Amino acid sequence: MIPEQFIQDLLNRVDIVDVIDKSVPLKKAGANYQACCPFHNEKSPSFTVSPTKQFYHCFGCGAHGTAIGFLMEHNGMSFVEAIHELARSVGMIVPQEEKTQAERDARRATQQMALGLQEVLQQAANYYKAELKKSQRAIDYLKARGLSGQIAAKFQIGYAPAGWQNLQSIFSQYDNEALSIAGLVVANDEGRRYDRFRDRIMFPIHNQKGEVIGFGGRVINPEDTPKYYNSPETPLFQKGHELYGLFQARRAIRDAGRVLVVEGYMDVVALAQYGIEYAVAALGTATTPFHITKLMRQTDEIVFCFDGDNAGRTAAWRAAMNALPALTDGLKLRFLFLPREHDPDSYVREFGRERFEAEMTKAMPLSQYLIQHLSADNPLASQEDKIRLLNDAKPILAAIQAPLSALYMRKKIAELTGVTEVELQDKLKLPNPNKTPQQVRQKQSRAPLSIKKRFILVALMQPAQMREDDLKLIVGEDAESQLLRAVVGAALAQPQAKPSALLHTVSQQHDERLVHEISRELLLLDESLDIGLELAGMRSQLRGATQTHQGKQVLSALKEKSFAALTEQEREQLRRLTQKT
Ligand code: UTP
Ligand code: MN
Repeated sequence: MIPEQFIQDLLNRVDIVDVIDKSVPLKKAGANYQACCPFHNEKSPSFTVSPTKQFYHCFGCGAHGTAIGFLMEHNGMSFVEAIHELARSVGMIVPQEEKTQAERDARRATQQMALGLQEVLQQAANYYKAELKKSQRAIDYLKARGLSGQIAAKFQIGYAPAGWQNLQSIFSQYDNEALSIAGLVVANDEGRRYDRFRDRIMFPIHNQKGEVIGFGGRVINPEDTPKYYNSPETPLFQKGHELYGLFQARRAIRDAGRVLVVEGYMDVVALAQYGIEYAVAALGTATTPFHITKLMRQTDEIVFCFDGDNAGRTAAWRAAMNALPALTDGLKLRFLFLPREHDPDSYVREFGRERFEAEMTKAMPLSQYLIQHLSADNPLASQEDKIRLLNDAKPILAAIQAPLSALYMRKKIAELTGVTEVELQDKLKLPNPNKTPQQVRQKQSRAPLSIKKRFILVALMQPAQMREDDLKLIVGEDAESQLLRAVVGAALAQPQAKPSALLHTVSQQHDERLVHEISRELLLLDESLDIGLELAGMRSQLRGATQTHQGKQVLSALKEKSFAALTEQEREQLRRLTQKT
């Protein structure tokens, strides 16, 4: 738990331009900075960063947020990691709201252990890399598989020599618990400790920061088993969360506008060797919804390409099922099926990059794959066949949350089985699809802003100008009024806060689309505007609206009771109202 006040202070202290410029070089453009958007593919810059508002916004894809949001979305950090990173950059210390000394100790111990694990894994990786240089046999193996020294260096491939306790040469404390927790050393039943990886080509697995968190090791000797041996799950390494090669592929994924998901370490490395640098692999597990979400932060096009054999086809279907809950209507998810005898490694080797990429553009969209798979062994001739299809389709239809994708899938299944969509929804007890469709991600034309929205913008820009009385001007319980009330409240509480900090404070509890629109308008706001004048004008308009609102209430009260029955306050309001007109 990080105190909210600290987050505010932090946002007021950091400069978003510095933060973003580190990974996306920015160019000055008027009062703002610009770049081609790192969140979608574009040729002319619509990604805008405002130093005064401490906000970024992309007018192309709608991505927006604070410095914290940027580190989360772009650098793949968690909220807490982003806070720590920013705090470090401005020399602030993140306070911890732990309750007891025991909790503090436990936390420190975990952090120390993570650091310790990190350290030993990195040392081991360095050692394996150095050993590769010494082993002609390992070098020959990699060469025979067509890998250049450059690619081996890019993926930091290494070699764990044969022998039981080689790691003793770099870890003087071979008994250290960290070595076994990190999965480098295992103990047999008699308690004897030995190296987990022996006589294997070593593929270090990196997290998104490029830190080594585990290894995959491949045998050289074809008789040895298992062919691949991976690090166990550790506090640093959870297979369902990590993707091999993602750290190396990040830039290429952005440039290509897509990511290719394959099955094996060698597939990733061989594809990179042939110039397809945007491939990643799940680590000997099925692709999880977590993987999909992680990839969706980088790109909106995911192509799955598993091996052509039966195991690969099974893996493809599991990947499709696991992707369903994470689907959005903007995501392009496709499946490339290779000929049975191939995996991506052998295919790119035989046919080259161009042919592979051409196949990729023809890959089967998820929707088509789902239908094809569902009706593959179903002739749909009898009523029983159709019922079977409906039953098979039910969990799939229920899992898709993306409104438009859900709509089309339902239409298609209804059509195939000869029922109406209403019957389908009713009989399969599917959730109602008529929720508001996702906003189409495209440039929106600018409509004039409502008075409340403009007031919100001014309050964000000039919090010190807000007065207690302004709260009384806001009547109504609509989303705009609620947000305005919250923004004015936040401004009164922190008159020196920057716009981003204020918007962050209120963004959690309010209508997401409205907050989104406000953040966009914040950047479009003309800074040469005379805010004092604007504010005076808006106050008088709001006052008018308030009075009309109250007047309407008095008038409707009058319809029900006589003038004499009105309260003193109501009479006063009526007087004011009649004086004016
Ligand atoms: P494959 O058996 O398809 O191997 O395993 P591959 O990727 O084609 O490897 P090469 O070309 O023979 O070197 C695919 C993935 O499944 C996991 C590994 O992650 C591997 O990359 N796997 C496979 C294991 O974890 N253990 C195994 O014994 C085999
Ligand atoms: Mn292979």
